[in-house]
Amino acid sequence: MSTIQVKTVSAEYPVHVGSGLLANLYEKLPKQRRFFVLTSPEIWGLWSKQFLASFPKDERPMTLFLPPGERHKRLTQVERLAAELSSVGADRSSLLIAFGGGIVGDLGGFLAAIYMRGIDYVQVPSTLLAQVDSSVGGKTGVNLVTGKNLIGSFHHPLAVYADIDLLQTLPDRELRAGLFESIKAGIIRDAELFEFMERNTGAILRRETEALEHVIGASIRMKADVVGMDERESGLRMILNFGHTLGHAIEAVTGYRRLLHGEAVGWGMIGALYLAQTRRTVSAEEAIRMNRLIHVMEALPRFKTSAEKLVEAAGHDKKNRTGVRRFILPAGIGNAKVVEDVTDAELLEAANWVLESARI
Ligand SMILES: NC(=O)c1ccc[n+]([C@@H]2O[C@H](COP(=O)([O-])OP(=O)(O)OC[C@H]3O[C@@H](n4cnc5c(N)ncnc54)[C@H](O)[C@@H]3O)[C@@H](O)[C@H]2O)c1
Ligand SMILES: [Zn+2]
Repeated sequence: MSTIQVKTVSAEYPVHVGSGLLANLYEKLPKQRRFFVLTSPEIWGLWSKQFLASFPKDERPMTLFLPPGERHKRLTQVERLAAELSSVGADRSSLLIAFGGGIVGDLGGFLAAIYMRGIDYVQVPSTLLAQVDSSVGGKTGVNLVTGKNLIGSFHHPLAVYADIDLLQTLPDRELRAGLFESIKAGIIRDAELFEFMERNTGAILRRETEALEHVIGASIRMKADVVGMDERESGLRMILNFGHTLGHAIEAVTGYRRLLHGEAVGWGMIGALYLAQTRRTVSAEEAIRMNRLIHVMEALPRFKTSAEKLVEAAGHDKKNRTGVRRFILPAGIGNAKVVEDVTDAELLEAANWVLESARI
């Protein structure tokens, strides 16, 4: 097991990564609290026995359920769950455990942020994406009809327990989608992680514990490091959006149905790499290696749209509301920079490149 300490201006907490963490979960939690666990029915069906194994019978958490799917990451669910908490007498000292993927983590964290003006919570992320990305950094929230994550707050957990064993039941496609965020981590800030993923692709895809632990640990370390320096995304944290300008646009124009988030980011990185190559911020050899690693992880799902629609959707990305398009360009492997002068024409070219590769 390894532990990574997240240190930001407003919080400090450990992220534990390893196998068998659920077996000792209770011992790690603060005592004299009432525990509530927020999860989804399918995750609870698979893992409740292991999850509860360490809890004494009379201290078992009460279970709250969120139906699976992005469409349930909404305020109505937050209100329903808050009412449920209140009806059973949850108070300010209660502790919420968010046990699930990024959706449970984001909504659970937000519920904890606003229930009685804020209660403590811990994250037990059960998808690769949640382990390497969403459970760390304190961003919580829900969607509006007009866009994703438009309501939310910063609320850090007391601790994160990323148990790698949970990934054994994760569908292949979800595992691979999470890996794109780790490739991103390698490209923007950790050349060693990138090289590890190049050398150990087979072991990672076979879900070998050691390989996964390395990738997850390094990805979290990278995010913890960046968030520690720029919690509120006023500068450096923006590099975490590498691949996300076009990625978000692809998700939006395909109605958030055809591709998983990580897959859209995979395509987005391919577009951004094209741009980086034309601007010569990466060499041809580096671009080949980065593209190869992206493609080797998965035959990305194809999709159809027009480049104009993608550029238009990229304009609506909430990160660009100031009117300035901030775009993250890799500068070699393990390094990235934020640029503000990417033109519509350049973005159109990158979008065309993506679409040529993605056409059904
Ligand atoms: N807060 C942040 O910084 C941040 C960062 C990135 C993404 N996100 C958010 O994360 C969400 C996506 O998270 P996700 O990719 O984890 O999706 P998800 O929460 O929908 O989980 C994916 C699917 O896997 C299932 N599942 C979860 N754990 C499982 C397990 N161990 N075994 C079998 N099935 C399991 C879930 O029920 C679900 O069907 C999005 O809403 C996104 O906005 C937040
Ligand atoms: Zn992402």
